Amino acid sequence: MAKRKKTNDALMAARDNKSDEFYTQYDDVAREVEAYLDYDPDTFRDKTVLLPCDDPERSNFTRYFVRRFDALGLKKLVSTSIAAHGETRGRIFTLSRGETPPAAPRWGYLDGDGDFRGAEASRLRDEADMIVTNPPFSLFREFVAWIMAAGKKFLIIGNQNALTYKEFFPYIQSNRVWLGVSITGGDRAFNVPDAYPLEALTCGVDEQGRKFIRVKGVRWFTNLEHGRRHQPLPLMTMAENRRSSPHKLIRERGYPRYDNYDAVEVSYTDAIPSDCGETMGVPITFLDKYCPEQFEIVGLDRYTVPKEKLIGGRVAIGGKPCYARILIRKKTGGA
Ligand SMILES: C[S@@+](CC[C@H](N)C(=O)[O-])C[C@H]1O[C@@H](n2cnc3c(N)ncnc32)[C@H](O)[C@@H]1O
Repeated sequence: MAKRKKTNDALMAARDNKSDEFYTQYDDVAREVEAYLDYDPDTFRDKTVLLPCDDPERSNFTRYFVRRFDALGLKKLVSTSIAAHGETRGRIFTLSRGETPPAAPRWGYLDGDGDFRGAEASRLRDEADMIVTNPPFSLFREFVAWIMAAGKKFLIIGNQNALTYKEFFPYIQSNRVWLGVSITGGDRAFNVPDAYPLEALTCGVDEQGRKFIRVKGVRWFTNLEHGRRHQPLPLMTMAENRRSSPHKLIRERGYPRYDNYDAVEVSYTDAIPSDCGETMGVPITFLDKYCPEQFEIVGLDRYTVPKEKLIGGRVAIGGKPCYARILIRKKTGGA
């Protein structure tokens, strides 16, 4: 618990300070991108990919897409960063089909500061087929709005807390955005600037002497198709769950109804019953297993239950608020 709190404190500090400098590891980028190829080897073929928050000198997104440019069949790669290093202009690196990939990082300068919200970055966005990056935590909402306004395909990494943002949840609910493939739990290491204070227990220094921090609740968000999200969850009936669920709470308490909303509490995703035709409240981590052919998302507790009925901002049982709950219903005919 103490460990978890420290990680969250570090994340909050990054957000509050607007430092936003958490750098993604090469293997995390590679594992996720390659997973889309398993589903469709041509996911990136003939595409222009923009990496809009990626310093060409140090980004592992840039490094990965340069190395895999031909194998992915890319048409063009554009990597830009916001002005840093005491410079007033942002950096840009491009690689087009037919050009020789550079052996070492190289870049030129943008006309402006490289802020993704500026006209120059928006023009590059409009010319791209796909946006891939780890955007700044503090600007996550704006970043997603920027992508969606242009109707682009995207793959971005961020914190699962974003799922419950008022601006973001509707995209999930309407199946315009979903979770990626390779991260469904645990924590991930991100490199941080040398000046980053190593106060949390989950910080360290890697074998290359670079500082890192381990962050919980990391997820990929995307509108790129992948196979896993179409695999239905295997379900047991309510009676079977009550008899043999691995969760004591389900065996002993079963499926109570909420005090303040007409739905059934299902405290664990792996205890969702196959024979419940009613609305069910499930943990947010259900979205890691969400198959849109099997379930429809009715809403999120705090945006769906009338405000005056919420207890501690949540659905409740016996007057006690539950954790955040996604409200779902099984589709008729779904597996
Ligand atoms: C979370 S870091 C990730 C960096 C890189 N994408 C990676 O994963 O290694 C976000 C980056 O966005 C940059 N940034 C912050 N505000 C920005 C903005 N308005 N426009 C573009 N980049 C921004 C930060 O300086 C930071 O380097």
